[in-house]
Amino acid sequence: MNQSPADNIYLPKVAIVDALNDEIPEVKTVHWHLENPEDQKQFLSTFGPGMFCLVTIPGKGEFTLSLPPSPTEGKVFFTLRRVGVCSNAFQEYKPGDRFALRGPFGNGFPMESYYGKNIVVVAGGIGLIPLRSTIVYILANRDKFKSVQIFYGAKNPETLMYAEDLKVWEKGGAEFYLTVDSASPGYTGNVGVVGSLFKKPGVTVNVDNTVAFVCGPPIMFRFVIKDLLDLGFKESNIVSTLERYMKCGVGKCGHCCVGVSYVCVDGPVFTYEQLKTLGEDI
Ligand code: FES
Repeated sequence: MNQSPADNIYLPKVAIVDALNDEIPEVKTVHWHLENPEDQKQFLSTFGPGMFCLVTIPGKGEFTLSLPPSPTEGKVFFTLRRVGVCSNAFQEYKPGDRFALRGPFGNGFPMESYYGKNIVVVAGGIGLIPLRSTIVYILANRDKFKSVQIFYGAKNPETLMYAEDLKVWEKGGAEFYLTVDSASPGYTGNVGVVGSLFKKPGVTVNVDNTVAFVCGPPIMFRFVIKDLLDLGFKESNIVSTLERYMKCGVGKCGHCCVGVSYVCVDGPVFTYEQLKTLGEDI
């Protein structure tokens, strides 16, 4: 069967920046669309929560970005922190500027296999970027899931991501809990690490028939995993995404190798049970 260029995820496609907005210091969201409408249509119908793209910034290089939008939204964007040559250059882009991308890549979260389950999402800091898609997808398909609990923590109120989304999630559809490590003047919410929310009076974390999504900085990840295991979660019911430097995206170059797995083709989504067997330092 012939494959059209739009179907070929390995072929770079031209994308055009529509708008940029500041999220928190050092972090921006870049809204874009693919120049060719067929490519755009194909992309919107194939990407899912937990997948990623390889983005080429002309003259700078190619780098990996996860996809924070949900396929239920009908739009695409990246959220990125200034961490290197490519991300610095991309944050300076203006509407109308062009870049190239390959993808969507990766296994993504198998969302349909979670239908009928309770959901717990635990995110720390910019760990919300790869989990935003999951949350939006779940809330857009709310009747397919049982209880939904979202726990999100950041260093301080100024580093809480996706301010507009947080307002929506607070309004309903899920139990939503927010915390910061240290408060600023005028902040009246919870203070403490994200795992402290599990013990907050009135909170009962659902464990049975539940899948827990966890993403965040390594130290937060370790403590949250311990908390979840102490609560009785099975390792196979905790899922996360791995970040790795990627080059080919097709399991050939070895840059994303973790143990015997290639994050680009076997991941980036793994259960905690799998992560332990990969030899990942967690
Ligand atoms: S990026 Fe080359 S093997 Fe994964």
